[in-house]
Amino acid sequence: MLKNDSRDEGTAYGRPEQHHDAELTEVGPGTPCGEFMRRYWHPIAIADKVGPVPQMARVLGEDLVLFRDRKGRPGLLYPRCAHRGTTLYYGRVEDEGIRCCYHGWLFGVQGQCLDQPCEPDGGRHKDRVRQPWYPVEEMYGLIWAYMGPPEKKPVLTRWSSLENLKPTEKIYVTGSSTGAGGDDTVEVVPTNWLNDWENIMDPFHIPILHTTFSTVQFVPEMGVMPEVTWEHADHGMRYIAYRKLDDGREMDRVTQALFPHVRIVPDVRLTDGPAAGVGWVLPVDDTHFRLFHARRVPQDFKPVEVRNYNGRKWSELNDEEHQRFPGDWEAQVGQGAISLHSEENLVTSDQGVVQLRRLLRRQIEIVRDGGDPIGITFDPAQAVVTVQAGNFFRKK
Ligand code: FES
Ligand SMILES: [Fe+2]
Repeated sequence: MLKNDSRDEGTAYGRPEQHHDAELTEVGPGTPCGEFMRRYWHPIAIADKVGPVPQMARVLGEDLVLFRDRKGRPGLLYPRCAHRGTTLYYGRVEDEGIRCCYHGWLFGVQGQCLDQPCEPDGGRHKDRVRQPWYPVEEMYGLIWAYMGPPEKKPVLTRWSSLENLKPTEKIYVTGSSTGAGGDDTVEVVPTNWLNDWENIMDPFHIPILHTTFSTVQFVPEMGVMPEVTWEHADHGMRYIAYRKLDDGREMDRVTQALFPHVRIVPDVRLTDGPAAGVGWVLPVDDTHFRLFHARRVPQDFKPVEVRNYNGRKWSELNDEEHQRFPGDWEAQVGQGAISLHSEENLVTSDQGVVQLRRLLRRQIEIVRDGGDPIGITFDPAQAVVTVQAGNFFRKK
């Protein structure tokens, strides 16, 4: 007979049902986090890729149609035509807007109904119809959308690292999953946005996942276990990871996670100086996100293909190679469509993740209570955020 103390303990049998933290992760209309998100502007597309052919854009769980009218103005409309509901995806873009394919109603970029060709006089009552729309702006080579209450529309935040370009500089934008461990062949990452955003406050995965687990994905110096402090900062949080390198040099690597989903990660090859770019983790819906990055570069900058995996691209790896060389994609998508937060065991090195979630929950509460969350301003003079992230080598 087996004694009690020799029974198998901790088996997977009969384990309790686990769940995700819906308040922090779900972004659809009317959800607590979704309402919080709808107080900010979001990058939704690369401006150069938006032209007269309508495209679908899924943002915060809403399907929308995005186009640029023949006068160059971007428009973001609810796709079901206000007449009898066919999709404007099959519409035709004209000088003044987009014309529905079914009965030809024409809508401007702010949803105004401008023509109803089957009606007497082109529609005597067309002013009574409005196609639902969202405000959009163009900045840094990106199209930005505001999907919240009109009376709460803030000014569009600008970033010090992307301002005051010299004539020899330009901004380079990307919208692929490269920064999330995938590559330029993929746009949408199939997991919840928070998996990626909170990863920015997790400096301890760098010496493991990116440096010693399989291959050196960035530089060998990242293998030194850092001493980390996490701090609240304007608009969000930052961490300072101190490393004493084998050659005696000492450095502080400062990384920022700012609201609602901004990531400012300094050069992973440890180039000395401030971070040249800013990234955004756009929640596509509850189980997908998309990354946008804007970076200040010289005018003659040519992007180099990322070949972090023994000289190969992420999309060239087979299944077994993904197992042997996992990166951010594998780790984050591996957490599931939405991570099961109830079964986590958070420890000392997760302090940044815990603080960020606490700060996020607080902002969600502020919005629910009728307030304005962190980083929101209605004053154009306050629009620029000073970037603090960078790799800073200490002077001897
Ligand atoms: S359904 Fe669009 S014009 Fe009729
Ligand atoms: Fe990472």
